[in-house]
Amino acid sequence: MNRRKLLTSILAWGGLLTGGNTKAFAKMAGMNMANSKLPGMDMSGTAANSHKRLRKLPIGIPFSHLARLENTSREKATFEAVIEAGNGTHEFVPGLATRILAYNRIASGAMIEVAEGDHVKITFKNRIPEQPSTIHWHGLEIPADQEGGPMNPVASGADHTYEFTIPEGSAGSYWYHPHPHGLTSEQVYRGLAAPFLVRSKNDPLSRELGDTTLFITTVSLNSDGTIAENTDADRMNGREGDHVLVNGNKQPVLTLPPGASRRFRLYNATNGRFLRLSLEGHTMTLVGTDGGLIAAPVKGLNELILAPAERAEIIVDFKAKVGRFNLTSKAYERGWMGDNKPAAKALSLMTFVLAGLAVEPIALPEKLRDIVTLGEPTSRKRLEFSENMGMANGRMTMDFLIDGKSFKMNRVDLQARVGEIELWEIYNSSDMDHPLHIHGTQFQIVEREKKGKKTPAPFLAWKDTVNITSKETVRIKLQYSTPGLRMYHCHILEHEDNGMIGTLDIV
Ligand code: C2O
Ligand code: CU
Ligand code: CU
Repeated sequence: MNRRKLLTSILAWGGLLTGGNTKAFAKMAGMNMANSKLPGMDMSGTAANSHKRLRKLPIGIPFSHLARLENTSREKATFEAVIEAGNGTHEFVPGLATRILAYNRIASGAMIEVAEGDHVKITFKNRIPEQPSTIHWHGLEIPADQEGGPMNPVASGADHTYEFTIPEGSAGSYWYHPHPHGLTSEQVYRGLAAPFLVRSKNDPLSRELGDTTLFITTVSLNSDGTIAENTDADRMNGREGDHVLVNGNKQPVLTLPPGASRRFRLYNATNGRFLRLSLEGHTMTLVGTDGGLIAAPVKGLNELILAPAERAEIIVDFKAKVGRFNLTSKAYERGWMGDNKPAAKALSLMTFVLAGLAVEPIALPEKLRDIVTLGEPTSRKRLEFSENMGMANGRMTMDFLIDGKSFKMNRVDLQARVGEIELWEIYNSSDMDHPLHIHGTQFQIVEREKKGKKTPAPFLAWKDTVNITSKETVRIKLQYSTPGLRMYHCHILEHEDNGMIGTLDIV
């Protein structure tokens, strides 16, 4: 029996097992009994999911842009702000108030916009009751002591100022979110995460394309309007969320003139949902990834997969006639474990309505920017993602590991040297996809290898997150420009909280 089948049957029969024969079953199945940090599977069947969920949210509201975080600095090339994280309320359903967490009480994310070279000074006020937090600046190449990782928690009630300079040439679609160990998943699904845009001083893309951020998140609500806590399935697979939101709304509608060409920044800011995006009746042109523009546009894409934390910049040339077209996310096989596998159906995320007088499409430049291929590596690392099932007190547990280990705050797992070009080979021996994210640098994917078949990266791009499917090996190249303690982890936030993190000391 393979592990997933085994797990499914254990979950299915769990209610019948007593402590004694659970152990025997586990032993028979060759499972490790120790090592159980997950809150554990509820073997009593229905108790964990007993809350009634709110299955309907209003749809079809006009698309709205995210609110911007105001720059309070008067100086040139400086961005200053105060960001307070704390309780807020939001009506996902009119008349039904939901208690959420928010930055500056702005539901669905206060977008930060800066330019390359800007000096950023942000005072973080943690007003989340009884929980430490941090602000992590996901993807930005900034000093290790400013990146807001779990090593530098800000206590509830305390303030902390982050200060860094945005590197030249780093224009791209980054984001920010909490990173306190063990609490990241909860703080994000309660509402804390927002885009962090770095603008280029000489963007090769026409301003007429606009620049529209589609920040994709999810929400799961109980019927009383409260945010649903993670279930066992969420903790094991990553929270997929009941409702997928674009800039805070379900299936919003964006009206454009027929024939329009538009630029979109797509964010997978969900805890644990894979997005397999396509746009009805249209192809997409990829122009950027996590770390900014790619070298040249990649035209004619029918679909685009974004694992949790990945971003993409695309251009769409809309049809020159009126009509309605949905941006959808198709079912994606990500290696579900246990029961309650979501139905394999396509979801509509938003609708584009083409109406009014037709306009002319906008031509794209052939070249977007120069990306230098990282040269011959002088240092190599091999990492392995694995899973470990266990039983504790008659409850099923699941650990996700890197190199057989769970995160330890003060343990250094890997070392690297400033300026050295490294080749990392990451093998995923588990049954589930895991998106690897590395702090403090952007990397280049070299190739993927699965079932003996090697596929080189189809184009050169800067990435900070890469999905590694079950039994796949991915090779990447990277180079750190500053010393300090960094980390790499799975960006399914429930896996990260469970310890699927390693630390890297750059000297
Ligand atoms: Cu987006 Cu270590 O995180
Ligand atoms: Cu990060
Ligand atoms: Cu994972």
